Amino acid sequence: MKVLLDADVQEAALRADVLAGLTAPSKWLPPKWFYDARGSELFEEITELPEYYPTRAERAVLETHAGDIARHTGARTLIELGSGYSTKTRLLLDALDLTSFVPMDVAPSALEAATAQIAVDFPGLPVHPIVGDITQHLDALPAAPDRLVAFLGGTIGNFEPAERAQFLSAVRGVLRPGEHLLLGTDLVKSPRVLVPAYDDAAGVTAEFNRNVLRVLNHHLSADFDVDGFAHVALWDADHEWIEMRLRARWPMRVTIPAVNLTVSFASGEEIRTEISAKFRREGVDKELTEAGFTLDQWWTDAEGRFALSLAVATP
Ligand code: AVJ
Repeated sequence: MKVLLDADVQEAALRADVLAGLTAPSKWLPPKWFYDARGSELFEEITELPEYYPTRAERAVLETHAGDIARHTGARTLIELGSGYSTKTRLLLDALDLTSFVPMDVAPSALEAATAQIAVDFPGLPVHPIVGDITQHLDALPAAPDRLVAFLGGTIGNFEPAERAQFLSAVRGVLRPGEHLLLGTDLVKSPRVLVPAYDDAAGVTAEFNRNVLRVLNHHLSADFDVDGFAHVALWDADHEWIEMRLRARWPMRVTIPAVNLTVSFASGEEIRTEISAKFRREGVDKELTEAGFTLDQWWTDAEGRFALSLAVATP
């Protein structure tokens, strides 16, 4: 496994993010820090919740269109960004005629498990996992022939619009004209469907959200009282994104020795831990075009909840 994020680099990045986010007037933490081993497992659990439709909806699109993706791309190399356990990716591995599969993720535990399982289920397929940050390490992707970059699950929704533009341009920058991007985007829909997907009855998403505080406790010797924070999920209709927050249930002082910081929370004060943007076709088309792609195919599930865009790098 190629490791671009060793423990030291990871911890330095975590310290920088915590310093920036928890000293800001409106506190925030980047969502990538959810995904230690426990966070990755909790996310897998989320994908099986009755309220969390995106994974099932995206799987339905992949089941219907994996053959079309193979036909349209002729891909020989599949690169998956933010691959996690690569669960749905198996549908692509079945359909494509690949000479290699390159999954990249920040979570080594999930990558290792995925790689081991794929070796069993797809003997003879070379797998080259990369532990890396998709916002930093795209230049480490192999220059193999006929590449398809898959960015599934709606993870692009974790970026703000400006970060999205930067990220899509960076992906375009590593591709040759004619190579492809397969992009999963969750679509705008009623908050009556969206909000429960991020605030499930069983409380798994709440645990996932609070897990970021456990990560800080573990890696930075912080002393967050994890149960002192309530899970909040709300729909921001102006930005068309879901926001997850952690709300202090009472006033708190938290010490974070690794960054030499004491953080005070007023009762009710919140930390923004994630945005999950929802999309419309026109917006996706526009953003892809601006980044140097041409939208070739747009597929949704039967209920129109989730879309897969197949884009080609414009010459
Ligand atoms: C992995 C980023 C696609 O935004 O829906 C699930 C993460 N957060 N429940 C999403 C998540 C809360 C998920 N992504």
